[in-house]
Amino acid sequence: MSSSDKPGVLHVYDGIEEMDNHLPNWWLFLLWTTLVFGFGYWFYYHASGMGAGSLEVYKAEAQEAARKAASGKPTSDETLLALMQDPLVVDQGKTQFIQQCAACHGQKGEGLIGPNLTDRFWLHGGKPMDLHKTVSEGVVVKGMPAWERTLGAERVRSIVAYVLTLKDTNVPGKAPQGEPEQ
Ligand code: HEC
Repeated sequence: MSSSDKPGVLHVYDGIEEMDNHLPNWWLFLLWTTLVFGFGYWFYYHASGMGAGSLEVYKAEAQEAARKAASGKPTSDETLLALMQDPLVVDQGKTQFIQQCAACHGQKGEGLIGPNLTDRFWLHGGKPMDLHKTVSEGVVVKGMPAWERTLGAERVRSIVAYVLTLKDTNVPGKAPQGEPEQ
């Protein structure tokens, strides 16, 4: 290693001249912006919980698609099963169930005056459309009110979606009534 007489040159080694120039401003600008951006990104999406991650965005989109697919179509086994997969709809149904149905069917659907909705025995059928018919039209002579008139089609669908999630949860309560579902 040896010094050189040229201005700015610190070392010369095997003919290679080493200088100590300032880093260019454009380079420093890029360095600091990427650092600041990287920290901001990390904070927003990972540390703070404020930004929705791609998985949450995907789930929200899938739910939205399920809701759209179900809402335009006539009510069927398929649309009711699709609604059952939608936590938002099921949650609305649960709220309605607690308000309108729990007095006769219990807080968890375990049955009280009305039958246990958590076992696999059904008086009027356990298929999604069977439940929908029973809830919409009721079994008025047996004390089960008809709900479509009072609650409207949309709420009845969300309640049925919720009741479908109760199936086979087998909450201890009223003894089984009716026929076992195949
Ligand atoms: C006033 C009491 C009462 C209320 C309130 C009530 N039910 Fe019922 N429900 C009954 C009775 C009683 C039966 C049994 C009817 C029969 O014996 O055929 C029944 C039957 C049912 C069945 C059929 C069960 C089977 O085994 O096939 C479903 C499903 C049902 N109710 C859902 C609901 C839902 C959902 C709500 C709320 C929107 C609700 N019920 C509110 C009294 C009630």
